[in-house]
Amino acid sequence: GLMDQLAGVQQREKRLSEFLKIDRCLIVSGNCDEQVKVIETMGKLVNDTLQVLLPEGKNVIAVMGGTTMARIAACLTPKVAEKRDLLFVPARGGVGEAVDIQANNVSAQMALRTGGKHRTLYVPEQLSEKAYAPLMQEPSILEVVQLIRGSNAVIHSIGEAITMARRRDMSEESVGELKRERAVGEAFGYFFDEDGRVVYKIPRIGLQLEDLASMKNVIAVAGGTSKAKAIVAYMKLAPKQTCLVTDEGAAKMILKE
Ligand code: G3H
Repeated sequence: GLMDQLAGVQQREKRLSEFLKIDRCLIVSGNCDEQVKVIETMGKLVNDTLQVLLPEGKNVIAVMGGTTMARIAACLTPKVAEKRDLLFVPARGGVGEAVDIQANNVSAQMALRTGGKHRTLYVPEQLSEKAYAPLMQEPSILEVVQLIRGSNAVIHSIGEAITMARRRDMSEESVGELKRERAVGEAFGYFFDEDGRVVYKIPRIGLQLEDLASMKNVIAVAGGTSKAKAIVAYMKLAPKQTCLVTDEGAAKMILKE
């Protein structure tokens, strides 16, 4: 019956969080590689999770981009903003995504859906490292960077390394380097191998991987069998307080069920 099914899901969630060595995993049924609608179910779960996790009062939530994040944004509701003041900020400056899935857009969408506010980080997507230094002196940019640094929650996705490198138009040389280094996953513009070793980092301002350690609430959203490897690899360097929202497709693959 339904109770057995629920108990089964909870057991799998427990097994997965023990396997990944993180505080919490939430698994929705289905496989988003096969059905895009499954991402919506994950979105509803993110909406519920935020209501449970976020403290009352002021919250600054840093968010990343990507297609998963863009779809999650559409699932948020004003319930998250009950008794809360929400400010959404992009977690990092552009990592080379198309406009509709950029972190700036995701954070604006989340603000719109919940009735919160948002701030934009105006940094060109394609910029040399040298051009960054003077930009960082700009008061308008510094202000948002400080908000990001002081955020109490972060929501992000995880991607497959080579898929992400190609989507972000990285050079053939860089893609070759990622392959040689056996990169399997990407999150926050960091590429890492199976052991969670960072092999490449897109130099961008905003949240850095080391800032995650002291971040109160970290929600990672990634599903689909195709992301199983990337999820396992990322969780080797993820902070323990991470809550992973995923689907059966990824969970079964990871647990070899
Ligand atoms: O960093 C990870 C990527 O943003 C994931 O992108 O949600 O489009 O697979 P995706």
